[in-house]
Amino acid sequence: MSKEQQAYVITGATSYLGEELAKYYSSEGNKVLLTSRKPISERSRKASECLEKLRNDNVIYLSDIDLIVESSLDQLRDEIKRFIPNKFHVINCVGYFPDYKMIEDMSIIEAKKVFDSNVLSLYNVAHKLIPLMCERGGGHFIGFSAHTAYQHYPKMSAFTAAKIAVESLIQGISNEYLENGVIANTIALATLDTEEERRIKPKGDSSSWLKTDEVCTIVDNLIRSSSNLINGSIIHAYKYSKTYFGQSYFDRIKK
Ligand SMILES: NC(=O)c1ccc[n+]([C@@H]2O[C@H](COP(=O)([O-])OP(=O)(O)OC[C@H]3O[C@@H](n4cnc5c(N)ncnc54)[C@H](OP(=O)(O)O)[C@@H]3O)[C@@H](O)[C@H]2O)c1
Repeated sequence: MSKEQQAYVITGATSYLGEELAKYYSSEGNKVLLTSRKPISERSRKASECLEKLRNDNVIYLSDIDLIVESSLDQLRDEIKRFIPNKFHVINCVGYFPDYKMIEDMSIIEAKKVFDSNVLSLYNVAHKLIPLMCERGGGHFIGFSAHTAYQHYPKMSAFTAAKIAVESLIQGISNEYLENGVIANTIALATLDTEEERRIKPKGDSSSWLKTDEVCTIVDNLIRSSSNLINGSIIHAYKYSKTYFGQSYFDRIKK
């Protein structure tokens, strides 16, 4: 039996995960609105090219949306109003990881970027889009946090704090808007198996890393569930890893 067609807004679509979700949902006649910032790295330029190819009558891609900038957020909301007539789901893949650094070694400017990209972007999307979601009868709102929010790994302090704020914001949404049909959950990810993670953790145990398509399945199961009882939850996504349970953290992140 084919799946029911739905509408999805995927922010941060040039992220590894966003690109995978874009491909996953851009089939089967779903309405999909993808957003990214101006490509600033070679990797996001390539991802952007891939998203361009997904465009069709049911898939639109806005490539100049900085979620820290209010005019971009207004443009996003207006495009959704124009393109999606009914209920829609928001999957926010935006984030920024500044590599492993002690607090003294990470500049204030970079720490601000960590909070802007991970937390403020999410707040802004919620602020601009949740009223429209409520008008349309609700929908799922999904954000991504990280395993470090439970371990408080050294050399990741700003990122960890930002991801705890993400979880808190999502829980706030779930408490404030359930009566309007909005269901908000966080998926707390262990390492994703991406080129970038292999670059920054060359000695990591990549056999236990999450594939981006596995995360798509988790997202989809959540959105398609007929129950609204999973709301305000933090869903932990990780696999068994011999090194995680048997080797020190510092050995695992050694270059
Ligand atoms: N990778 C992992 O192992 C891992 C682990 C735990 C949690 N997560 C979380 O899972 C999500 C996806 O991870 P990923 O590795 O696939 O992400 P990624 O490749 O690092 O991409 C991050 C995305 O955020 C976008 N972005 C940053 N600031 C933005 C802003 N102000 N406005 C609009 N877009 C902005 C970037 O756009 P540009 O391309 O334009 O810069 C990029 O598309 C993120 O929230 C990440 O923190 C990832």
